[in-house]
Amino acid sequence: MLIDSHSHIEMKAFDRDRDQVIARAKDVGVDYIIAVGITLEDCKRVVSVTKQYKTVYGVIGIHPHHAKDIDKRTYDSLRQMINNDKIVAYGEIGLDFFRNLSPRNIQIKKFGEQLELASEIGLPVVIHDREAHTQTMNILEQWEGDKRGIIHCFSGDYGMARKCLDMGFYISIPGTITFKNSGQLRDVVKKVPMDRLLVETDAPFLTPQQKRGGRNEPAYVIYTVLRIAEIKGVPVEEVERITYKNTLDVFGIKPENPL
Ligand code: NI
Repeated sequence: MLIDSHSHIEMKAFDRDRDQVIARAKDVGVDYIIAVGITLEDCKRVVSVTKQYKTVYGVIGIHPHHAKDIDKRTYDSLRQMINNDKIVAYGEIGLDFFRNLSPRNIQIKKFGEQLELASEIGLPVVIHDREAHTQTMNILEQWEGDKRGIIHCFSGDYGMARKCLDMGFYISIPGTITFKNSGQLRDVVKKVPMDRLLVETDAPFLTPQQKRGGRNEPAYVIYTVLRIAEIKGVPVEEVERITYKNTLDVFGIKPENPL
């Protein structure tokens, strides 16, 4: 009973063995995988994997790395792709001041535009924030839209997590929680109530400690769940059950066999 709430299984890294990757995920109990787009081309791949696999749902939007490539036609194309009930959120959008692959002022401008677009189409958002906590929080606080969604791959401290929770967001925990130097994230996991946590792999990136050196994949979301259970001192099944429900709730996914 698991959901990988954020992966990139649409990417070329999985073209060779996507069927087996999805089968392996199913073997450890991953019922759903959320594929998240980062460029317009990548979003097209997201739509196509959601059509190909019943258990894959999609999120589309333009990652801050690629903010500089957005033009008006980009939004028209995204709007058309959203006309599809397997697309359950808008993202990943936000700010990345670590790699700065797009100029910061452009990232900020396009983040604002995409938040507006998400409001207009009525989808929750998936937020990417790397080394841009203050600016990300300012923008989210000032945004007048319906604050529903996920702070993906959360990397702030508990103070920031608290503000995100108060605004209405869920916090998604990646496989980096398995690393020895994950002290701050461990503190966040300890203090954030279980009913606001999600788990993700961000595959093929952020491979957990246990599989370090190789490509990450949705099956490995189990390592994050195990670590959270350990940190919170609760049974693994409880982490599975609650993060599963949270993920279905935030994305508005109705399981075919009601729980
Ligand atoms: Ni991602």
